[in-house]
Amino acid sequence: MDKLIITGGTQLSGELRISGAKNAALPVLAATLLCEEPVSIGNIPHLHDITTTMQLLGQMGIQLTIDEKMNIEVDSSTITKYEAPYDLVKTMRASILVLGPLLSRFGEANVSLPGGCAIGTRPVDIHIESLIKMGADIKVEAGYIHAKAGRLKGCKLVLEKVTVTGTENLLMAAVLAEGVTVIENAAKEPEVSDLALFLNKMGAKITGIDTDVLTIEGVSKLDAKNIHYDILPDRIETGTYLVAGAITRGKVKLKNTRPDTLDAVLDKLREAGATITTGDDWIELDMYGKRPKAVNIRTAPYPAFPTDMQAQFTAMNSIAEGVGIITETVFENRFMHVQEMQRMGADIQLESNTAICKGSEQLTGAPVMATDLRASASLVLAGLVAKGETLVDRIYHIDRGYDHIEEKLAQLGGTIKRIPK
Ligand code: UD1
Repeated sequence: MDKLIITGGTQLSGELRISGAKNAALPVLAATLLCEEPVSIGNIPHLHDITTTMQLLGQMGIQLTIDEKMNIEVDSSTITKYEAPYDLVKTMRASILVLGPLLSRFGEANVSLPGGCAIGTRPVDIHIESLIKMGADIKVEAGYIHAKAGRLKGCKLVLEKVTVTGTENLLMAAVLAEGVTVIENAAKEPEVSDLALFLNKMGAKITGIDTDVLTIEGVSKLDAKNIHYDILPDRIETGTYLVAGAITRGKVKLKNTRPDTLDAVLDKLREAGATITTGDDWIELDMYGKRPKAVNIRTAPYPAFPTDMQAQFTAMNSIAEGVGIITETVFENRFMHVQEMQRMGADIQLESNTAICKGSEQLTGAPVMATDLRASASLVLAGLVAKGETLVDRIYHIDRGYDHIEEKLAQLGGTIKRIPK
């Protein structure tokens, strides 16, 4: 397994281009299953999860063509199988996103259950129960969701919890359903909106985008021709590099991003003492020479503070001035980075879903283990500011969600190297 070796202590400075959002690219690629014509998708990030999605679509018989700019053309007319096998789903839970489109367009889907996951149990009961309400016949047997349906029927769905991939699956299912579907308590994450905009571009009729009530008037088919859609920039990658700037007391400018999707994160960085300047598609953070102040964080669905930025702010609090209290309300077991940070000298106390971080003057480099995607990123951030060398093991988690992280950090002056297995 590849490892990253980081020598801490450099103030990061410079400019970076942000990649397309992983969490938008995955549902958008799944949604291409709904279109009867070939579709082209741009601003696709170079990520392991994208390769997995392409394998997933490829093994269904779907034709995919990539050009040198990473535009992917998907032609779903060659589909032969309606299945997401365990081998792929176990490496990427988001494979569940093919359930809605397969069922609504082809009337059949066999999708492996995602099962447990390092950051909590993450069930898919809301996806399944809502599809049943829309008329699907679903059996869960031998670890697989076996779903069949005639044309799905629009109805009112009130989601018990705000779920991102759940909302996306139901949105994709409703697009070809008969009649009107209303999804209440829908997730409002920008990636959900990006999917909805893409579906509308293919011919869907979705209103209420960016709100928690999505109304979908079903159409009989999506057959728009010559569609090209560019994925929105990755707000979590953006936030991670902003924290990299702040934690190292540096100054960074991130381009090709969307400041309007990061309000809660930018507010917390300002509270930590950073000067933030934004344009339409760029953000600059200036923390030059200043020690960050500890901040209190409470994660919750968008537009509140994202759970996917919690670990990175835990890293920042661990070297900040003062005490910061971090409360995780979205996932029940998302503090696995804390133990590793403690090995680097961080003073963090865990009390159920709360981490009390007392900022230390200095962390010390150590060998640490990445446990999930965002936890891994937080260990890299801690390594950038720690004294000496930090060796981050199991970085396949990072490669799932960060496009060329070592090259991007090196571009900002960070001392970081990949050691291949
Ligand atoms: C998505 C994101 C992930 C992010 C998370 C929360 C993708 C590919 N992944 O994950 O990066 O951390 O949103 O912003 O977009 N739940 C249920 N039943 C369900 C579905 C969810 O109880 O049927 C619960 C989950 O266990 C969790 C909460 O709802 O506690 C939110 O999960 P959800 O929004 O579904 O997360 P994902 O869509 O898997």
